[in-house]
Amino acid sequence: MKTLTTNVQKGLHGELSVPGDKSISHRSIILGAISSGETEITHFLPSEDCLTTIQAFQDMGVNIERQDDHVLVHGVKMNGLSEPQHPLNMGNSGTTTRLLLGLLSGQNFTTDLIGDQSLSKRPMKRVTEPLSQLGPEFRVTGNGTLPITVHGDSNLSTVNYRLPVASAQVKSALILAALQADGISTIIEKQQTRNHTELMLKAFGGEIEQQGLTIKVTGKPNLIGQSVTVPGDMSSAAFFIAAATLLPNSEIRLKNVGLNPTRTGFLTILKRMGADITIQNETNQVEASGDLLIRSSVLHAICISSEDIPNVIDELPLITLLATQASGTTKITGAEELRVKETDRIAVVTEELIKLGADITELPDGMIINGATPLNPQDTDRVDSHGDHRIGMMLGVAALLIKGELKLANESAINISYPNFFTDLNQLISAKGFAAL
Ligand code: S3P
Repeated sequence: MKTLTTNVQKGLHGELSVPGDKSISHRSIILGAISSGETEITHFLPSEDCLTTIQAFQDMGVNIERQDDHVLVHGVKMNGLSEPQHPLNMGNSGTTTRLLLGLLSGQNFTTDLIGDQSLSKRPMKRVTEPLSQLGPEFRVTGNGTLPITVHGDSNLSTVNYRLPVASAQVKSALILAALQADGISTIIEKQQTRNHTELMLKAFGGEIEQQGLTIKVTGKPNLIGQSVTVPGDMSSAAFFIAAATLLPNSEIRLKNVGLNPTRTGFLTILKRMGADITIQNETNQVEASGDLLIRSSVLHAICISSEDIPNVIDELPLITLLATQASGTTKITGAEELRVKETDRIAVVTEELIKLGADITELPDGMIINGATPLNPQDTDRVDSHGDHRIGMMLGVAALLIKGELKLANESAINISYPNFFTDLNQLISAKGFAAL
């Protein structure tokens, strides 16, 4: 149980570099492992989820050296992975599981995948069903959830698949399978989702083209290890962006945050709500990044619908909190995917913020939030992450606004994506500010 910092009156100040992007960190290990030569990764995210990916590849015989956020992957090429001696433990990581299902479908061995309680409830048929179209011998056993046994097939055929869900994880699984087939595969997205796999694959020498929602991948490329510098994670920066926006007298700068346009929906939505966010020093290597200057502001309600969702999927718990502090009625719809994340985030966000006095009604695919409502604990002095890292950190931000005392149960969930979250938050709470730019 963690006692949260509450009642922060003088705002947030100073500057901070947030840890590396989780999605890009996972992919840098995977692509590094299946390439020839070395891949050197700087500003890797050493959180539980990404360490799960490292461990899985070590279990398949890949030599990976790590010191803090610096990682060296000694690539073994696509055919150099070896059959693990025991089940691969996916922990809490949906990204590791789904991307590995794609990769393992074309391997010449059998693998058991297991996961923690939350991951073992999450849907995997969305990946295994399309993958079964690629290989006559590829089979999975299991009920559409972990544990799953993958019987790989080294003779995969190409795929032509239209995704029924907007999911970068499913898309990436299919791309990783298609890399092992002879010829060109076509994957058509339902909506544009984060494109880190596509960008990184190109940088490693793969052939992948995107036109609108259609992606064409050429199989059997000659991938070559690269140097990867992982930008700061927008989804981690989002907690401080929200806190600085909500707390009067704040002014913070977040350095080198990833600004890939498929990930900046949070900035767009906050600006629509009236937030004061400026992008500085933007650069565009494989992935765009830049600094963000955030000052406190007064927010108003907006409508968020299905076309907005994929670009902001991981930030919706925070947007719900922001909406409780915005004047008017915010309606979020088309967000049914939230129900199959680490927790049912529609139910859990509603339950936890109502404990603090928020006015939220659950919808099957979203929420209606009436604001602005002062937040204060109602009948309890404790909130609960429910084992979901993003819920835990969102509640850590909510606490800053309340006057009373608040404790967080299951706080260790934040280690999934941001082990130093509370240390970094405290740094911005106690900083005095930086010289005018
Ligand atoms: C991720 C994609 C998203 C996101 C997850 C990471 C990825 O999931 O929620 O945190 O790295 O591809 P879906 O693509 O399944 O929505």
